[in-house]
This record gives sequence, C-alpha cells and structure tokens, in this order.
Amino acid sequence: MLNLVLFGPPGAGKGTQSQKLIEKYGLIHLSTGDLLRSEITQGTPLGLEAKKLMDQGVLVPDEVVIGMISTKLDANKDAKGFIFDGFPRTVAQAEALDSLLEAKKAPIAGMIALEVTDAELEHRLLLRGKDSGRPDDANPEVIRKRVKEYNDKTAPVAGYYKSQHKFNSINGMGTIEEIFHSIEEIIKGYLQ
Ligand code: AP5
Ligand code: MG
Repeated sequence: MLNLVLFGPPGAGKGTQSQKLIEKYGLIHLSTGDLLRSEITQGTPLGLEAKKLMDQGVLVPDEVVIGMISTKLDANKDAKGFIFDGFPRTVAQAEALDSLLEAKKAPIAGMIALEVTDAELEHRLLLRGKDSGRPDDANPEVIRKRVKEYNDKTAPVAGYYKSQHKFNSINGMGTIEEIFHSIEEIIKGYLQ
C-alpha cells in the first residue's frame, strides 16, 4: 500500500496533481475539501455547519474531518493506497491519521509539499473564482484568511512529518507537467 500526503497552501495545486496521481498510480483520492463540498451540495446538517466556516476561510473542527476520513478508509478496504489532499491540516489531524492507519498496518510513506509564493496563490484562486462557484475563491479577503489559517494552523504539520523523516518539498511553481514530474521522482523512491 502507498499512502501519501499532498501538502501545501490553498491554491498550491494539490487537487490538480492528485487527479494526475490517481490516474497514473491507481490510488484513491481523499480530499476533505471535496468531501465537505459534497455534503454542502447534498444539504446535509454537516454540510450546512461546514459551509458557514468554509465561506469565511477558516478550518472546520478536527472531529468532523477525522470522522469523514475514517469512514472513507473503511469504505475502501482493498485500495492500493490513498492520496490525502487537504488533510491533515492540524497536528491533531495528523496524529489521528497515524492512529487510523496503524490499525491497517499501512503508515504514511511520505508527505510531498508544494511550495508556491503567496502572490501566485492569490492569482490562481482569484482566476478560478471567476467561474468556480466557490464562494471562498471569489473574495481576496477570504483568500488571505485561508492563507493565514494555513500559516497559523497547518504549516506546523510539516514539522510533524519532518520529525518522522517523511517530509519532501518541491517547487510548486511552473507548469502542471513540470510539477508532476518532480512528484513522480519522489514517488519512484517510495516504490523501490
Ligand atoms: P480545500 O478544498 O482543501 O481548499 P484549499 O486547500 O484551501 O485550496 P484548493 O483546494 O483551492 O487548492 P489546491 O491546492 O487543491 O489547488 P488546485 O489544484 O485546486 O478546503 C476548503 C475549505 O474546507 C477550507 O478552507 C476549510 O474550511 C475546509 N477544510 C478542508 N479540509 C479541511 C481539514 N482537513 N480540516 C479543517 N477544515 C478543512 O489549484 C488551484 C487553481 O490553480 C486551479 O484553478 C488550478 O487549475 C490552478 N493551477 C493548479 N496548478 C497550476 C499551475 N501549475 N499553474 C497555474 N495554475 C495552476
Ligand atoms: Mg483542493
């Protein structure tokens, strides 16, 4: 089993690269952002609560996303591996993920962090906000709040994986293909 965490600030390209990775390596993509937006679309109570926070650019509570990930892991028992995208976003989430995977004897192989400048993040998200329908993309203030949440609460998760010697950082600026190539180079090491 190959379990990877794709890491980086809002707009770094986690979802874009995950799509290419699942095609090439046959892994299951678990994006907590996508799972939450699906709850919103279905109008569930969880979705309604989450929407209030997501529209402001702040994180939803740890228990909510940990519960969603736990359900998805149970529902995909025969998976070749998982790409975690937008999760874990706090150290508490990282610890919970380790416990869930310990039960499966399939720990995280590594984290791959996409490094992108703040100016490029804002540019990408505002561009997408023109037609994505995502309220959190449309407003520069909300985008800055998302980046601040990342710096305050999520950036420390990199240290968590550094201490386990599982951290890799790559340049997230450039074309989608160039970035994918850098990720493939890291994955080659894990598949040996
Ligand atoms: P989430 O959905 O995870 O959003 P995010 O991480 O803030 O940002 P994105 O998903 O928009 O960025 P991305 O890195 O996937 O980039 P993408 O490939 O889309 O979270 C949304 C909200 O949900 C959070 O704010 C929070 O409230 C809540 N939430 C989610 N998970 C949570 C958790 N674990 N705990 C608590 N709360 C949670 O690319 C962005 C754009 O750039 C696209 O238009 C793309 O086409 C373009 N692009 C991609 N690559 C390139 C490139 N190389 N060059 C030019 N453009 C590019
Ligand atoms: Mg995403």
